[in-house]
Amino acid sequence: MTIKTDVLVIGSGIAGLFTALKISEFANVVLVTKKNKSESNTNYAQGGIASVIDPNDTFEKHVQDTLIAGAGLCDKVAVEMMVKDGPDRINDLINIGTEFTKKGDSFDLAKEGGHSMSRILHSKDLTGAEIERALIKSIEAKSNITVLENAIAIDLLTEHNQQDLKREIYKNQNCWGAYILDISNNQVLKIIAKATVLATGGLGQVYLHTTNPLIATGDGFAMAYRAGAEIGNMEFIQFHPTSFYNVKNSAEFNNHSFLISEAVRGFGGLLRTKDGEFFMHNYDERKELAPRDIVARAIDNELKKHGDDFVFLDLTHKTANEIIEHFPNIYNICLSQGIDITKDLIPVVPAAHYACGGVVVNLNAETSLKGLYACGEVTMTGVHGANRLASNSLLEALVYAFRCYESIKESFNKTVFSIPEILDWDDSGTLSYDEKVLITHTIKEIKQTMWDYVGIVRSDLRLDRATKRISNIMVETELLYKKTKVFNEIIELRNLVTCSHIIIESAKLRKESRGLHYSMDYKFSVPEDSIKNTIIKKLDQ
Ligand code: FAD
Ligand code: SIN
Repeated sequence: MTIKTDVLVIGSGIAGLFTALKISEFANVVLVTKKNKSESNTNYAQGGIASVIDPNDTFEKHVQDTLIAGAGLCDKVAVEMMVKDGPDRINDLINIGTEFTKKGDSFDLAKEGGHSMSRILHSKDLTGAEIERALIKSIEAKSNITVLENAIAIDLLTEHNQQDLKREIYKNQNCWGAYILDISNNQVLKIIAKATVLATGGLGQVYLHTTNPLIATGDGFAMAYRAGAEIGNMEFIQFHPTSFYNVKNSAEFNNHSFLISEAVRGFGGLLRTKDGEFFMHNYDERKELAPRDIVARAIDNELKKHGDDFVFLDLTHKTANEIIEHFPNIYNICLSQGIDITKDLIPVVPAAHYACGGVVVNLNAETSLKGLYACGEVTMTGVHGANRLASNSLLEALVYAFRCYESIKESFNKTVFSIPEILDWDDSGTLSYDEKVLITHTIKEIKQTMWDYVGIVRSDLRLDRATKRISNIMVETELLYKKTKVFNEIIELRNLVTCSHIIIESAKLRKESRGLHYSMDYKFSVPEDSIKNTIIKKLDQ
């Protein structure tokens, strides 16, 4: 089946929903999302969204904090744009009914690691869910937005998968939409659009331990890579220092770890070893509120030193009322696991959390492919550099979603679109695949390999091992993919292994330690000596 629309948006997190909402002001939108529309990383965001709201705060301070966390690799112009546009975009969220927690008449601004001021707007500890709620309610009221749930994008429509238009070397590529699998009936749709927006979020599921839900299989990075788009700085994977250690081995946390928000440390939470020793003063003068890369490495080091499985986060010096008032969700979830955070120490471990790199976009959210725009976690905008500052992700997604809208609007005003004949999905000669257990096992292998060799601490030897293992899996997966009728799990497996490959290749290019990329073989270089962005681009099929 073929669907024609003005704009195809892929993804229903903050980036996709906000883009769709804005674009509906001037064009028709089809939004596809691979599960139900609220399932996204956004929906799990806890701490909040950073912006300069306090009269004592300044844009310069927020810019400076972002640049410091980014360890010399941020694009200052992009950072300034994000920070300055922040308050207007926050107002957009408020205007559609997002309710941020207040203290009296003012917003209750929280503090998190790396921030010199309290500037995090939040809705208790369920900020992402509140933003999703407001955005979904708004798009449901728009008659020119069609939402297709359980619809997973397989590949972008560009010259690379149109036989007659195929080019030997990827250049001046155009994007005209995407092939989408309707999971409910296993039919592949061809959605043709004048503009396509990639808003597919992150890739935490590449790793064994992650805060990201099951949807975060890096589909957007992999699709853009296959289509020949530029992908940058993928070595910078952020590991959140404090995810809940699954003491009871509860099934609900087998696929992703429950986050204990950084706001808990901002609120005064202290880290201790299993023996009860405080340790952050040994690593950084900002102690628990140092940027995440420093805190995660410190915990990793303490775990290795003591042979422990977790460290503790301690809130017991705070009153029970304060704790429950600020963190009702964290309190309830921990209680369900037998930990009363008002009295007990919380067992925590680092987990893969966020991809700082991604599909390279300019200030207008344009990728290197004509007609393909991107926003949110799937992108590399330059605002995070080598390490993202806490709560800058939701802000970046919002600001760049708005940029997408402005760019597409401008392009619609000045472009006469001419879209060539697009081939139907061709699965002739393929067979149905019923040994899903092999796919599950291969995914486990990928996750373990990436955790062991491409995790918080890396080395040339570890990256070499990862290269060999992931290359084998990639060849096997590609063979399987080519002879199999497409289905959800194989799409995700293919994307997970592709993302692993890109992360490893990017890590190998960076012959230094910087921000989130720490290699035992290279020293941390000073910001001025930084190796610039690592760019990976597929040159042939
Ligand atoms: P997402 O919200 O992940 O949305 C991606 C969407 O794309 C989903 O709907 C998904 O189903 C869909 N999708 C993916 N692949 C396909 C495909 N092939 N076809 C169709 N649809 C597809 N950041 C902050 O700034 N502050 C916080 O407090 C904060 N807390 C966090 C807490 C947790 C537990 C996690 C995991 C992240 C947190 N982050 C936080 C990071 C932030 O939530 C994400 O970076 C941000 O929400 C990403 O938004 P997005 O719209 O780009 O992607
Ligand atoms: C958190 O609440 O700790 C997550 C914040 C973020 O990822 O920015």
